[in-house]
Amino acid sequence: MNPLARALNDTLANTVVARVFSDLGRRMYFPKGIVAQAAEAKSKATKFNATVGMAYADGAPMTLPLIRELTGNLPTAETVAYAPTPGVPALRDAWKEQMLAKNPDLADVPTTRPMVVPGLTAGITMTADLFTGSGDTLLLPDLFWGNYRLIFEERRQCTMREFTFFDAAGAFDRTAFADGARAAASNGKLTVILNFPNNPAGFTPGSGDVTFIRDTLVQLADSVPVTIITDDAYFGLFYDDNAYTQSLFTLMADAHPNILAVKVDGATKEDYVWGFRVGFVTVAFQGMTAEHSAAIEQKLTGAIRSMVSNSSVLSQSILLRAFAHPQYEQQKQAAFELLEGRFRTLQDILAAKEREGRAPQLQPLPCNSGYFMSFRCNGLSAEALRVKLLESGVGTISVKDQFLRIAFAGVDREVLPELFEDVFTAAESFG
Ligand SMILES: Cc1ncc(COP(=O)(O)O)c(C=O)c1O
Repeated sequence: MNPLARALNDTLANTVVARVFSDLGRRMYFPKGIVAQAAEAKSKATKFNATVGMAYADGAPMTLPLIRELTGNLPTAETVAYAPTPGVPALRDAWKEQMLAKNPDLADVPTTRPMVVPGLTAGITMTADLFTGSGDTLLLPDLFWGNYRLIFEERRQCTMREFTFFDAAGAFDRTAFADGARAAASNGKLTVILNFPNNPAGFTPGSGDVTFIRDTLVQLADSVPVTIITDDAYFGLFYDDNAYTQSLFTLMADAHPNILAVKVDGATKEDYVWGFRVGFVTVAFQGMTAEHSAAIEQKLTGAIRSMVSNSSVLSQSILLRAFAHPQYEQQKQAAFELLEGRFRTLQDILAAKEREGRAPQLQPLPCNSGYFMSFRCNGLSAEALRVKLLESGVGTISVKDQFLRIAFAGVDREVLPELFEDVFTAAESFG
C-alpha cells in the first residue's frame, strides 16, 4: 500500500471511516507530486513557471479568441483553466455558507469542506467507491432513483435491500424501515441511502419520521458501523408544512461516533443548471477532528483525481458569480414559486379527479416536494399505461410496472389539466 494511503488510514484508525472503508477506500490517497511541486513553484518560480499542463500567454491561460467571445469575455482563469481537484475554493466556501443557511441545525457541527464533483451522480459513485463493496448491503426505499442500481449493484456489487416506503395509510412506513435496517445490518455493516424530496414519489417525510430514522440508526450504530448517504438532489423544493425542511444529514452528522454521514447535493436541480455538472460531497461523524476531516478530504480528492481529475471551471465560475449576484435570491425564489404553482394545480386536479371518481386504479402516492409525483397502478400495468399514453403523444415513466411517474415540474401550469385528463382517460380505457 502506498505510504500516503497508510498515513491517512493511521489518522482515521479507530473511527467509523476506517470501519466502513472499501478496499479501494483504504488504498486511496492523493499524491503530493505535481500538485505540491506546482504550489511550490507558484510562490518561488519568479523567473519562469513551467510546471502546469496548460498553455499560457502573457501570464494567463491561453484561449481561442472565439472561445473568449463565447464565454462573455470572462477572464480565462475562470473559463478554460483547470479547476483545483477538490473544486474552486471560493465556491466550496459559498456552498458551505448556503448549506448552513439552509440547515441552521448544522451551525456548530464540524463537517468537511464541501468538495466539488461533476454532478450528484459522481458524488454518489465516489462515496460508493470509498465506503461500499461486495458483501455489503444497501438499504433503500422501494421507490428510488434507478441509477442507484447501476452504481451500487453493478459497479460496487452491493446487495440492495428495499423497504416499503409507504404504509397502507400512505405514511412513511416506519416499521418497514426499522425492520429493513435491522435485517440489512445483520452482516456487520449497514449502508443506507435516502433521497428527500424523493424521486419518483416527490415525498419528504416530516420531523417525526426523520427523528425516527435517526433514532433507529443510532440504536443500530451501537453494534454495527453505519453509513448514511443523503441524496439531496431536490433540496429546497418543499411545498407543504409537513415536510422536514432541513437535510436529514443535519440530524445524522453528529448523531453517533459509529455513523458516517455523507451529504451529496448540488446545483444541478437546486439552481436549474442540469448540464453544468456541479455537485458537492460533504462528510461528518460525531467526534470528527480537523485531522480526520483533512484525511477524508485527501481520500475524496484522490477519488476525484483518479476518476475525472477535476470539474468544469466554467460551470463553477458562473455559479460563484451567480451566488454573489444581487438578484440571485429573488430569481431563485421566482423559480421556486413557478414550480410551487404547478404543485398547487396538481393538488387541485387530483382532488377533482377523486371527487369525480375517475380511474380508481390510479392511486396518487403522497407528494409534497420536488419535481415528480407518482401513481400506484392497482390492477393495471404501469408499463402498458405508459405505452398507451405514448401512442397519444404523452411521455411518462413507468417504474417496476407498478408506478407511473409524472414530472409535473417539466410541464407548464396551464396544460397540467390536459396532461392529467389524458392520463386518467388512458387508465380508464383499460376498464
Ligand atoms: C435522486 C437523484 N439523485 C441524483 C440525480 C443526478 O444528479 P446529477 O445530474 O447532478 O448527477 C438525479 C437526477 O435525476 C436524481 O433524481
